Amino acid sequence: MTAASYTPGHSRNATDFMAKRSLCSHGEFFVPHLASGMSVLDCGCGPGTITLGIAERVAPSPVLGVDFEASQIEQAVAIAASLNLGNVAFETADAYKLSFQGGTFDRVFSHAVMEHLSDPVRALREFHRVLKRGGVIGICSPDWGGFVLAPPSAELSDAIEAYTRLQSRNGGDVNVGRKLGMHLALAGFDEVRLSARYENSATRPSPRRSTPARTTRPETPEPSTSISSTARSQA
Ligand SMILES: C[S@@+](CC[C@H](N)C(=O)[O-])C[C@H]1O[C@@H](n2cnc3c(N)ncnc32)[C@H](O)[C@@H]1O
Repeated sequence: MTAASYTPGHSRNATDFMAKRSLCSHGEFFVPHLASGMSVLDCGCGPGTITLGIAERVAPSPVLGVDFEASQIEQAVAIAASLNLGNVAFETADAYKLSFQGGTFDRVFSHAVMEHLSDPVRALREFHRVLKRGGVIGICSPDWGGFVLAPPSAELSDAIEAYTRLQSRNGGDVNVGRKLGMHLALAGFDEVRLSARYENSATRPSPRRSTPARTTRPETPEPSTSISSTARSQA
């Protein structure tokens, strides 16, 4: 997959949607593994709002957010500048070919990236390489097998099927969540721990509305179920 065949695209709409995320909303499973003194790589950081939460947690240690799309890095740099955080930097890099020396980072994090990769194990091996011995990785990706739609909507079901086909054609997998444990083991990680959570994309009708509220659709498909995993590189 190249930036050109990345399924959600990098439009302003798609990016603004990602930028609503925070460490608290989407990376809480990794918080127990973060502490001051740890260097962290966030791979596929997008607009970097989760990365910034990580930087706050491990300050003053360095955090680096990388993404293969330059426009994401520009946006992440702009958001970071407005927060005046001194320990975070962003740069372009491809998850398959990181330029860092082996054993550079105490922690590696990657949120909502594996589902876009045609060879997630190859990327995870690269993460394993740049992680220090005994370091911990945190990965979270969707598994659309858990989608719950209410009320039933033929249009929405069609849209989800179409997106699933498109993602597969681009080499990705909307059901990668269930495979994360196997992928991490194949990439050489030990002590793999898995957890899952639901995300609610529903909008609630306002109590003051006199006419029935229309269900609004998220601008970018958002996973309703995500599988989170942490794993350790052997000490
Ligand atoms: C769904 S977004 C997630 C962004 C951020 N991690 C978040 O959860 O808000 C996926 C990001 O991964 C990036 N990406 C996809 N494939 C990549 C690769 N091979 N190397 C680096 N970044 C990649 C995309 O450009 C995009 O910004």
